[in-house]
Amino acid sequence: MYFPTVLSAVTAVAGLAAAAPAGHAPPAGAAPTPFVIPTDDGFPNPNPDQLKVIQQIADGTLSNAAPPAKINESSFPVFQLISFNEQFEVAFFSSLIYNVTNDVPGFALKNPKKKDELLDILETVLAQEKLHAINAGKTLANFKQFVPVPCKYQFPTANIYDAIALADRFTALVMGTLQDAAQTLARNGDVGPVRGVASSLGQEGQQDGFYRILLSKKPSEKPFLTTNVAAFAFSALQQFIVPGSCPFPLSNIKLPIFTPLQVLTGAGGFDVEARDQHIAYKVDLTGVSTADAHIGKSDLWITYFSGQLLPISMPIVNVKWSGRVATFEAEFPFSANEMVGLSVAALTTSGKFTSPGEVVGATLAAPGLIQVDDRVKSWDGFKL
Ligand SMILES: *[C@@H]1O[C@H](CO)[C@@H](O)[C@H](O)[C@H]1NC(C)=O
Ligand SMILES: *[C@@H]1O[C@H](CO)[C@@H](O)[C@H](O)[C@H]1NC(C)=O
Repeated sequence: MYFPTVLSAVTAVAGLAAAAPAGHAPPAGAAPTPFVIPTDDGFPNPNPDQLKVIQQIADGTLSNAAPPAKINESSFPVFQLISFNEQFEVAFFSSLIYNVTNDVPGFALKNPKKKDELLDILETVLAQEKLHAINAGKTLANFKQFVPVPCKYQFPTANIYDAIALADRFTALVMGTLQDAAQTLARNGDVGPVRGVASSLGQEGQQDGFYRILLSKKPSEKPFLTTNVAAFAFSALQQFIVPGSCPFPLSNIKLPIFTPLQVLTGAGGFDVEARDQHIAYKVDLTGVSTADAHIGKSDLWITYFSGQLLPISMPIVNVKWSGRVATFEAEFPFSANEMVGLSVAALTTSGKFTSPGEVVGATLAAPGLIQVDDRVKSWDGFKL
């Protein structure tokens, strides 16, 4: 997943430039400020009184069910990834709330009632994400496993529209990843936590419906949401982490980190047109030893996840190499597969898969995210 810094292009494309606050670009060359999660409510380790307050804001509590008697060790990375991801989300929504509250340029809302309403909703989302993170951490701690702690974060967004568009995008990816979490837990014989994963997946869907309506997209994206795999989610999250800022080695989480697959079509894969077309990609395979035999060649595929379809592979074409950097295209078979909503792309060494999980072992770079939007016609959307 590659988020270009020119996301605001989406605003113009969507014809919302007038409604969205003007973007505020940081001075050229300025390093993005690392964001640190505020600790005033004790997160990620609140005391019982602090937890009570978080639960009040979240409109609900953690489960009071006894923890499972045992967890298959193959399942621990699932909980570590959920914890790592939810901490990123806590950082993102904390930063967004700060920006809206303080009228940071690009985030100042004209209508004070809308500002109050948005902050009210985002405060509840934030508390809910905190409980998702705490829940995953409790399971790990119960089995004396490594519990991720917050890192320092960086976000590519500099205005409210782009921030909500990013929230829509990462929430859709998370909902795909939680499908993989449920599947992995079931396969590993850990049926106990599956109910909770399904519960939080629906919760994320409610959030995303709200973000989507703000963006003038239909709230329900697809009949069956696009799936994803844990390794692609862990890889995508790396761009939000200030390099080297996690107070633990990332290898504590036993998942691969793939090099990014950049989508060049649309505004970095946002707002891609709803039609059959070639999509352009770029990849830098420096340091990817599994790519050695393929450098300079065209024997690779783009493999897509879309909805609950089996992985769809298309050969790469118009390949241009410069050392280990390649630009190329692949067909986006939109109409045959109704690829509205999120598609997750990977650069793979094979073009034949019978399940999403198989794709990981053949991947050289991932994920590339492509979004085709079915927009509502008259909703006034982002009138904040
Ligand atoms: C909050 O504003 C800062 C300064 O413009 C920006 O760097 C950061 O990305 C914003 N946060 C979010 C979540 O968009
Ligand atoms: C643990 O998970 C592995 C991988 O899915 C599986 O092969 C094994 O049977 C599981 N163990 C139990 C006790 O279910």
